[in-house]
Amino acid sequence: MLSDLTSLHTEALTALDAASDETALEALRIDYLGKKGKLTALSSGMKDVPPDIKKDVGAKLNEVRTAITDGITSRQLAFQAAKDAASVSGLDITLPGRPGQGTGSLHPLTQIRHLAISTLRRMGFALAEGPEIETEWHCFDALNTPADHPARNESDTFYLNDGRLLRTHTSSVQIRTMETVKQLPVRIIAPGAAYRRDEIDATHLSVFNQLEGLYVDKDVSLADLKGTLEYFFREIFGPKTAVRFRPHFFPFTEPSFEIDVKLEAKGKEDRWIEIAGCGMVDPAVFEAVGQTRKDTLFDPTEITGFAFGLGLDRLAMILHGITDIRHLIENDLRFLRQF
Ligand code: PHE
Repeated sequence: MLSDLTSLHTEALTALDAASDETALEALRIDYLGKKGKLTALSSGMKDVPPDIKKDVGAKLNEVRTAITDGITSRQLAFQAAKDAASVSGLDITLPGRPGQGTGSLHPLTQIRHLAISTLRRMGFALAEGPEIETEWHCFDALNTPADHPARNESDTFYLNDGRLLRTHTSSVQIRTMETVKQLPVRIIAPGAAYRRDEIDATHLSVFNQLEGLYVDKDVSLADLKGTLEYFFREIFGPKTAVRFRPHFFPFTEPSFEIDVKLEAKGKEDRWIEIAGCGMVDPAVFEAVGQTRKDTLFDPTEITGFAFGLGLDRLAMILHGITDIRHLIENDLRFLRQF
């Protein structure tokens, strides 16, 4: 058997050298290593080999199998390399590029996202993220939103067949973050897509861009919330921008506010434009987080927090005077070249 193996070894390597293309190589592979191949046939003789030399024969068998397999692989690589070389022949990769194509620029939405993130990072907020396909727990229940709340309706929310949904706001990242952090303070922002089953028009798309903020620690106050957001909007819209907090309702904050900024239009009366939602984190949210964590880091009697959520599309529209949100996704170069 040992000598059979040796001659098979030599025979196979000679045949491999002679193979002229990948088809011939594949035929050889089947001929030697296939189910009915020569090597396979030889190895079935193992059972008749006397015990005292079984070990040597086994080792030889493995050596021959490895040699043939390696031989096939190296021939395969050589064929592939030859093919690659042929496909680029006549192509001069040292030619200089063609000038005058112009450089692109960042999409207005990307620009505003960068500006918002860098402003808030300077203030100590770290980036966080969460999935766009969410559970009802993270999007609603843990955010103190009862099962019969209209936002949970099938006509407002995209549900998947398995009961999960496309997140309707980035507030789900508040929960994701609080469920996993190791210590306080939590000071995060989470930019990302949100989905709603809205009728598409000049101010609504079924997917839009939000930026969530959350700050939790001992003694976080409403004054911190106001100071942070006033500073933020003045960085975005200019130092004289007037910002007002109007009482509102969100299930997950108490008290809750909508934030308006005053836009000064030349020749026209100033307008207040709603730009964000915010509030002090409702203790019920901390309690929900505590249920998952099973520790007392978010004990609502010990800590407080604020949260906010703003629409980045809206921010870009206001900043640039864009009147139709659909411009932001149509990629019309006449529109994009303005930024
Ligand atoms: N999630 C709210 C929305 O989408 C905004 C919000 C975030 C409000 C955080 C309060 C606190 O409308």
